[in-house]
Amino acid sequence: MTRTTGLPGYAEHFSEPEGYLDFARYGPPSRDVLDATAAALAASARADHTTVNDLMWAEPRARAAAARLAGTDTAHIALLPNTSTGLFHAAFGIPSGVVLVPSADFPANHYPWRRTAALGRAEPRWLDARPTPDAVRAALTDDVVAVSLSAVDFRTGYRADLAAIREVIGDRLLVVDAMQGLGVADLPWEAADVVVAGGQKWLRASWATGFAALSDRALERLEPTLTGWTGIEDVAVFDDTEHPVAPDALRWSITNLSPVTAAAFAAALELVERVTVPAIAAHVATRVDELIDAVRAHGGEILSPTAPHERAGIVSFRLPGTDPARVAEALHAQEVTPSVRADSVRLSAHASTTAGAVERVLAGIKAVADSR
Ligand SMILES: Cc1ncc(COP(=O)(O)O)c(C=O)c1O
Repeated sequence: MTRTTGLPGYAEHFSEPEGYLDFARYGPPSRDVLDATAAALAASARADHTTVNDLMWAEPRARAAAARLAGTDTAHIALLPNTSTGLFHAAFGIPSGVVLVPSADFPANHYPWRRTAALGRAEPRWLDARPTPDAVRAALTDDVVAVSLSAVDFRTGYRADLAAIREVIGDRLLVVDAMQGLGVADLPWEAADVVVAGGQKWLRASWATGFAALSDRALERLEPTLTGWTGIEDVAVFDDTEHPVAPDALRWSITNLSPVTAAAFAAALELVERVTVPAIAAHVATRVDELIDAVRAHGGEILSPTAPHERAGIVSFRLPGTDPARVAEALHAQEVTPSVRADSVRLSAHASTTAGAVERVLAGIKAVADSR
């Protein structure tokens, strides 16, 4: 049965406007996140000798919740301030060889490889195709040591088949930018060696949050070239000597993160865990189906994959012969928030999205079609 409301147990935690359909850009955070942030910051304003240590407990809490979501344990999780930091750790960890990277990926997955190539370390080879298992297989040569790709493509919403790609690449490293998929698509994250996600989009934890999940193979093979003073053994011992790097994923720490954002991140992750990713994904799949129908009802062309197993929460489209800026204007008039590109419009729905949002999209697109 189609629900007209947001997902019960989830939607009540949020207060974004009904027409907000831009989760692929930014996911308005929950009241839980606002409360956790306010409480941690307020406590820091009254700091005494216990406060900082107490606030720091948010970090293991967030790591534990991230581990459960990624299907691993806390020792394999590092908290990060964003996706890019994790991709830089991965890239700078590979000493040499070729890394296959889709040329159409979000640039956060391009620059780290360009930088390592400039230093004479691993270098990217651009894959000029959707990263299907067949395309990856066709591009594999003996010098390929890793593949780095987005689990869900930021432009089209195409969902990579991580399990099949793992089979294709054997024991090469698989680095996954999970920014557009984690918490909203039920994917086999354990197929990857590095899973990196910021918390500001689908996890709805707001900015300066994120994590990486590392496999044993990643811990074994990636050199800890960016490890900072907090990524070592005996962090609190200031003895003017070089300490060994931490044996676990904590070696991806450059310095302390904010315990305030860690509290926000823990609250966001724990909400996803309570509601469950399959329940969120099922609600999103319904809304995405409805958005596709709404776009097509008035001649829109869908640029995203339409098969449910090849997509997550993103629907990109264009109205042939109409400037996307004009489509955006009509959507704004219906109080819909899309992402607008030169050649397309992108809508992204979450588990708090109601059927009312779809009606607004339908009305906006009809208005453009009627005016032509
Ligand atoms: C696939 C993907 N990766 C990474 C990012 C950005 O990562 P961050 O700002 O967390 O470094 C985005 C969007 O902003 C994205 O769509």
